[in-house]
Amino acid sequence: MSYQLKEVTVIGTGIMGLGIVQVFSQKTKCKVNILSRKQESLENAMKKIENTLDKLEKKGRLEESKEDIIARINPVIDIEEAFSNTDLVIESVIERIDVKEKNFKNADRFSPPNAILATNTSSFSITQIASFTQRPEKVVGMHFFNPAPVLKLVEIVRGNKTSDETVNIIKRICEEIGKEPVICKKDSPAFIVNRILFPALNEAASLVEEGVADPEDIDKAVKLGLNWPMGPIELLDLIGIDTTVEILNSLSGRLNESKYRPSSLLVRMVKVRNLGRKTKNGFYKYD
Ligand code: CAA
Repeated sequence: MSYQLKEVTVIGTGIMGLGIVQVFSQKTKCKVNILSRKQESLENAMKKIENTLDKLEKKGRLEESKEDIIARINPVIDIEEAFSNTDLVIESVIERIDVKEKNFKNADRFSPPNAILATNTSSFSITQIASFTQRPEKVVGMHFFNPAPVLKLVEIVRGNKTSDETVNIIKRICEEIGKEPVICKKDSPAFIVNRILFPALNEAASLVEEGVADPEDIDKAVKLGLNWPMGPIELLDLIGIDTTVEILNSLSGRLNESKYRPSSLLVRMVKVRNLGRKTKNGFYKYD
C-alpha cells in the first residue's frame, strides 16, 4: 500500500465537521484543511476549536501545546487550495443530497487521483454518493459519532464499488487516530448503530407525546435501567431534532417501513425550530 496520510480535508463546520478536525489535528501530524463556503463560518469554527482545546489544555488532557495543534489547521474557502494536495477528504456537510453532490464533484475534480473521498453521512447511500465521482472505488462511508473527539467508534461503510484497498486504508487511519472501526459490509440505510438507535429515540419521543412519562423520567429510566450515559431525550437534543427526523425519514423511505416514521411531536418541533441544543431549545432549554 503506497498510501501515506499527510493532508486531510474536512468539508463542513458543523458539530461533526469540527469534531473530526479536532481528532485529526490532535492525533496526527497532518495538515488539516477545513473547507467552508463562508469566511464567517470558518472564523466561528476556529473560535470553537480554540475554546475546546483551551478547556482540554487546562485539564492537562493535551499531549502537545494548543498552539501546535491549531497551527496544523488550515481554514480555507478556496476549493482548489482545499483539495489540490489532499490525501483524504471527509465530507460532513448538511444532509442534503444536492449539497453532497456538489461537494463530491468538486472533491473529485480537484483532489489528486489517489485521494480517498469519505463521507460522514448518516442517511444517504454511499453507492449514490460515489456515483457523483469518477473514482467510486475510492469513495467510502466514514461515520463518526457525536461528540467525535470522545466516542471511539467509526463505522466504515462500503458502497457497491468501494475497493478492499480503500477499506483497509481507512481502517488503518481509524487506528492511527485512536478510533475503533467496524465494517458495514452492505450499503444499508442508517448502517448499524443508527438503525438500532433511532427507532428507540422515536419511541422515547412518542412516550412524551402520549403523556406516558416526563422527559426527565424517561431519561432517568434509561440511564439507570439500561446504563446509557445519556437518556434518549437528552440525546435527541444533542443530535438535533432536525437530524433525527431526516434519519428517520431516510430509514422509513429506504426500508419502506412505517415503523421508522418520525413521531408527529418531532415533526412539529422541527417546524417551530425547537431543534435541541443547537437552537438552545428542544425537549429541554439550554443557556
Ligand atoms: N474533545 C475532547 N474531549 C472532550 C470533548 C471534546 N470536544 N468533549 C468532552 N470531552 C471529554 C471531557 O474532557 C471529559 O474528559 P475527562 O473525563 O477526561 O475530563 C469527557 O469527554 C467526558 O465529558 P464530560 O465530563 O463533559 O461529560 P460526560 O461524562 O457527561 O460525557 C458524553 C458526555 C461523552 C457526551 C456522554 O454523555 C456520552 O457518551 N453520551 C452519549 C452520546 C451518544 O450516544 N452519541 C451518539 C449519538 S448518535 C450519532 O452521533 C450518530 C449520528 O449519525 C447522529
